[in-house]
Amino acid sequence: MANDLNPLRAEARVERTPDPCTVVIFGASGDLAKRKLVPALFNLARERRLPGGFSIVGYSRSPLSDEALRALMYEAVVRFSSSGPPTAAEWESFAAGMFYCQGGYDDVAGYTRLKERLAAIDAERGTSGNRIFYLSTPPSLIGPIMDTLGASELARSAPGSWTRIIIEKPLGYDLKTAQELNAHISRIFDESQVYRIDHYRAKETVQNIVAMRFANGIFEPVWNRRYIDHVQITAAEAVGVEGRGGYYEGSGAVRDMLQNHLLQLLALVAMEPPISLEADAIRDEAIKVAKAIRPLVPSEVDAHAVRGQYTAGWVGGKAVPGYREEEGVSPTSTTETYAAIRFEIDNWRWAGVPFFLRSGKRMTKRAAEIAVQFRQVPMRLFSTTEADLHEPNLLVMKIQPDEGLTLRLAAKLPGHAIHLRSVNMEFRYGTSFGVRSSEAYERLLLDCMFGDATLFTRRDMVETGWALMMPILDHWAASGERNLHFYEAGTWGPEAANRLMDEGRAWRR
Ligand code: NDP
Ligand code: BG6
Repeated sequence: MANDLNPLRAEARVERTPDPCTVVIFGASGDLAKRKLVPALFNLARERRLPGGFSIVGYSRSPLSDEALRALMYEAVVRFSSSGPPTAAEWESFAAGMFYCQGGYDDVAGYTRLKERLAAIDAERGTSGNRIFYLSTPPSLIGPIMDTLGASELARSAPGSWTRIIIEKPLGYDLKTAQELNAHISRIFDESQVYRIDHYRAKETVQNIVAMRFANGIFEPVWNRRYIDHVQITAAEAVGVEGRGGYYEGSGAVRDMLQNHLLQLLALVAMEPPISLEADAIRDEAIKVAKAIRPLVPSEVDAHAVRGQYTAGWVGGKAVPGYREEEGVSPTSTTETYAAIRFEIDNWRWAGVPFFLRSGKRMTKRAAEIAVQFRQVPMRLFSTTEADLHEPNLLVMKIQPDEGLTLRLAAKLPGHAIHLRSVNMEFRYGTSFGVRSSEAYERLLLDCMFGDATLFTRRDMVETGWALMMPILDHWAASGERNLHFYEAGTWGPEAANRLMDEGRAWRR
């Protein structure tokens, strides 16, 4: 670091390492472990962020050995590591801490072998009984895994060490199942041990929302109903269901994206300033504003929420099939691949300001952003002729791709006459800091090792999210195909979504 000539780059790296520990990945043979978890752990190791002796134990039913798991993960890291493939020396050192334990998810004998393996690793590698259990399995296995961890006495921390559990989405299928899941978790683990994943919270640009709002004096005074006309929160994807048709059929855009990721974004944009950056200080403010969102009543759903499903079309110059033709999808499916909702927040700061949320698959392009549209100036001093092409101020927080911030301003065109144009002031992460942003899973795994739950979802937020979505989901479930709007793949979603945009507002393209 001493010879790093770019002070910003040096600043951007935070050098801290957690206690030595072992991460146990249940479902290690699966997609998430290969695509995200092990590549993320490898990147952390490469950047020397992991503690000495750090170990991984893969646990699943597949017949693998330590060596076979290492070979499988080598291929995964070569393919999916965002910092490039490992050198021989890097891989040798990382793989030396990787082990496999075969067993069923409710098999006490398998967990006994796991416990013995963990004790041996503690002795050999100095991991001191500190463990993270990562549940990277289908949700139906969460209950059996937790029960068997409890029965095998793996859920409790030994004196002087810690035990944590990471639970993947989906966190329930509806409010009732989410409440049951949370009650189940709390019978076996203390809430302080539980880390519920919402990978959007850990995106660099999402964390920047808090920094931008509360580390700059200029935004907070105008961050309210007097100056802001509306807010649009978008997570558009160009991809389809990517071989996850079976999962998506039981989910849809609201369960998959809005109930969790988009609500988290809304909470960060709309919450009051927290009293500190402690996990619960931020989560307390987030839940307070989430609870102030006015739930739709059934008679409002058709006017304030729109669902869509993509048909065949063209994305990025390639012909793609419609949702109903995807593998694992019913030819008469009514699952929504697009959803848009208009919410209002009943509190002093936001009364009357609509928040528009939308997410869809197979849209024109990948674009996740929060657009804060300010009100027009109170007096039109400048004429509105052809040559005065400007719009009200707009602040766009770009979450991905092209991570950064854009502020739209009106400026005078050069020349004698006074004519206005909209111009953009830009901040780009890539060019400003020149370092690779951590992947969300890198950040989440490291934070869990530190015991920092700030970026993880608390029980009350999960249930509040479901409570807000239930009137919409119930209404759609009872509607058959009636209010399902089809849209061609490669477009911005169904035309019907435009009707949510009242008073001359328009969706961003
Ligand atoms: P997989 O379907 O790949 O399952 C993981 C492993 O669990 C499998 O390799 C298999 O291991 C075991 N398994 C699968 N189905 C069953 C079953 N019916 N009974 C017993 N064991 C089974 O899941 P993913 O890795 O894709 O996802 C893991 C979790 O992460 C899920 O909760 C998912 O919702 C979530 N997630 C995944 C994302 C992704 O991109 N994949 C993105 C966001 C969240 P074995 O047979 O060897 O025991
Ligand atoms: C996951 C959803 O939570 O988020 C996927 O299950 C979706 O359907 C993904 O594609 C989007 O994440 P990202 O980080 O690619 O925007």
